[in-house]
Amino acid sequence: MEQKKTVLLVMGSVRAGRNCPKITAWVESVGRAYSNYEYEIIDLAKWQLPMDDEPGIPALQGYSQPHTQAWSEKIKSGNGVIFVTPQFNWGYPAALKNAIDHLYHEWRDKPVMIVTYGGHGGGRCGKQLRRVAVRLRMRIVPTSPALRLSDAVIREGAELNPDRDFSNFAPQVQRAVSELVDQLEERESVLARLRRKWKEALAVLS
Ligand SMILES: Cc1cc2nc3c(=O)[nH]c(=O)nc-3n(C[C@H](O)[C@H](O)[C@H](O)COP(=O)(O)O)c2cc1C
Repeated sequence: MEQKKTVLLVMGSVRAGRNCPKITAWVESVGRAYSNYEYEIIDLAKWQLPMDDEPGIPALQGYSQPHTQAWSEKIKSGNGVIFVTPQFNWGYPAALKNAIDHLYHEWRDKPVMIVTYGGHGGGRCGKQLRRVAVRLRMRIVPTSPALRLSDAVIREGAELNPDRDFSNFAPQVQRAVSELVDQLEERESVLARLRRKWKEALAVLS
């Protein structure tokens, strides 16, 4: 039986009292409704990835630390990635940058969807993250949902209710998920074609 594809949802915030888990779970629920994939939420707060204990350059691999090796395996296990991140001072959180920079080749060619949130949707941090994803040669879907948080949620700690508060954004998230699905299917068919050609070439040589 064919194995289901896995999409990793990487949460950008590790902050105490963060809204990220709720928002990520909501994005996941939209994804599940629109595709038949496995979804796995990655909480960077549970991944100890110290900033200073890998002496080598990630692009050259040869990771020395077990946690970096495990992180590498985790990212390799995903067919696609969804980053769900808040905007912090017009950028994206340091914990997310650190997690990305621990690896290099693992991100290459991965279909990726970027979901941001903030008072104005977090578009500026989305732009920043997009540049980094381009550098890593990820395959970024065109639609990047930018979810607006109310002042009450940001400043007064009001409870966020994604189904209610983000109902206007659901179509955007659905479009981005369908673009991610297209990317994943396209990638699979290219790989299948390459595997077929490789087999044919081997058959000719043998
Ligand atoms: C350090 C920090 C910087 C922030 N900077 C911005 C910002 O530049 N733009 C914005 O819209 N919201 C900003 N906010 C508000 C966050 O978008 C909001 O607090 C959000 O809930 C943070 O995500 P989290 O709760 O998952 O950590 C900032 C919040 C923090 C803690």
